[in-house]
Formats: sequence, C-alpha cells, structure tokens
Amino acid sequence: MKNIFSKILGLGVVGCSALLLRSFYERKNFKTVQYDVISKKIDTKKKIVFLTDLHNNSFGKNNEKLFYAIDSISPDLILIGGDMITVKDKLGIENVLPLLKRLSGRYKCIYANGNHEQRLGENKFGLNYLQYKQIIEGMGIVYLSNNSLDIDDNICVHGLDLLKKYYYRRYKGGMDTGYIKEHIAIDRDKFNILLAHSPLFIKDYEESGVDLALAGHFHGGTIRLPGGIGLMTPQFHFFSRLVVGMKRLGNMVQIIGAGLGTHSVNIRLNDMSEIVVINLKPRKKNINLVQ
Ligand SMILES: [Fe+2]
Repeated sequence: MKNIFSKILGLGVVGCSALLLRSFYERKNFKTVQYDVISKKIDTKKKIVFLTDLHNNSFGKNNEKLFYAIDSISPDLILIGGDMITVKDKLGIENVLPLLKRLSGRYKCIYANGNHEQRLGENKFGLNYLQYKQIIEGMGIVYLSNNSLDIDDNICVHGLDLLKKYYYRRYKGGMDTGYIKEHIAIDRDKFNILLAHSPLFIKDYEESGVDLALAGHFHGGTIRLPGGIGLMTPQFHFFSRLVVGMKRLGNMVQIIGAGLGTHSVNIRLNDMSEIVVINLKPRKKNINLVQ
C-alpha cells in the first residue's frame, strides 16, 4: 500500500514538474501568428505587427529576440495594444523601453492604453501616467488615448481607453450607451482599426462601425483547453472563448492576441506567447463589363 502511494506521489511530482517546465517555455519563447483581413475599403496591402500584454517580459537581453523577430517581418506599421508594462505591487518597465526605442527608430508605431498603463494615473511608483506617455511620445511613438490617427487616406487607427469598472473582476456587462461615440469619431467610409485593450466589448465595437478591433488583455486564457477555450482570464472569467484568435461579428473582425507576457498568475499552457501579424488586403472590385 505504502509502495503504491509513493509511486502515485512520484508520478504527480514528475507530472507537475513537466507542466511547470512547459509553462516556463511558453512564457520565454514566442510564436508568430498571421491573419489576413480583406476589405473593399483597403486600397493597398499593409503588413501590421500587433503587440500586446508584454507585461515587462524579456525575450533575450533588452528583448533582442523580440526585436529581431519583428524586424525580420519588416512591417509597415506596429500597433501596440497596451499592458506592455506591469503596474501592480511594483512597476515593471525596464525591459519595455529599450524594445520600444529600438522599434520606433525603424518603424511607425502607435500605442494605446491597457489597464496597467491607466493604473499609472494612481501615481504609486514615482512615475505618473503623463510622464510615461511623454517618454513614449519622446521616442516618436504616437500615443492614442481616446484619440485617432489617419495612417493614410482611408485607414484610421483609434485608441480607446476603457473605464476602470470595465476591468472589474468577472465584469460581464456591455459598455455604457454611447461610450465609444463620446470618445472617438468613426467615419464609416474609412477602414477603422480600433485599439481597445479588452475583447469583452465586441458587440459595442461592432455597433460603433469599427472594421477591425484589436485586443489582448486575457493572455490567451492562461491554460488553453480544446476548442480555443481559455480556462481563466486575469479578470477571472472562466471557460471563455473570447481569449484568442479571429472572431467575426457582422461586418467587423476582432483579433485577440494571446500576448507576450503574464503577471500575477504566471502560467501559460497550450497558450504560447505570440506576435500577431495582420495582412490587410484589398478586396478585388467587381469589373463591370460594358456591353
Ligand atoms: Fe490587461
């Protein structure tokens, strides 16, 4: 009896160690995922790298591995969906700034807030939100906080800040009526890309007239179950499908990045850190044959 018990215990220890090693691997390595988004509102192809939820993680010294991976993709534009830093019991920022500085020296970068950047507003760590924003803008990065930027004649990028209550644990409601309209102006004739950190408000984003919504925040669901279901999000939603990948709703596409880091619950299983590449492509217009 004692023998069987020690064998089971031994197997348990080996199993747990293997899972922890795998989780460490998934947190310290990343993959690149590609999505094609086709629209008649797009005139010319564009390759976008979307980064989210780095949470001050480092892939090599000063995030060199991440930089070289992005550089090898050679994007037309880098969009940053927030939570690059961690603002919790302490401030985690030192691995983020060298990466952003290097990227901004080579590529056009647009940055929008996550809940962690917004927490800098509480000014607990000697670096307040405005100072951080100034540092990022000083690198030549466009910081969109309830603001928009036309990147060409017919593509507009919007950065939407979300209310603190939208990040409350297990929050399930929608947005307040008219919230998006109050903060950004969407011209439906253009192709509108929305950086809004949480994927939870997919219906509100679609109703606002956005064409492509980019989100992160849920870290791919921490442990990814079969069918793309996330076991748990940082907001304690359990068994959620809204954690990673491309979702379609009406005329809108939402792409949710699994992110590049973690905080608090430092686990990733079947949930590899990822760089997201989005290929914007024009839809071929119908040719009207003249009789
Ligand atoms: Fe987040």
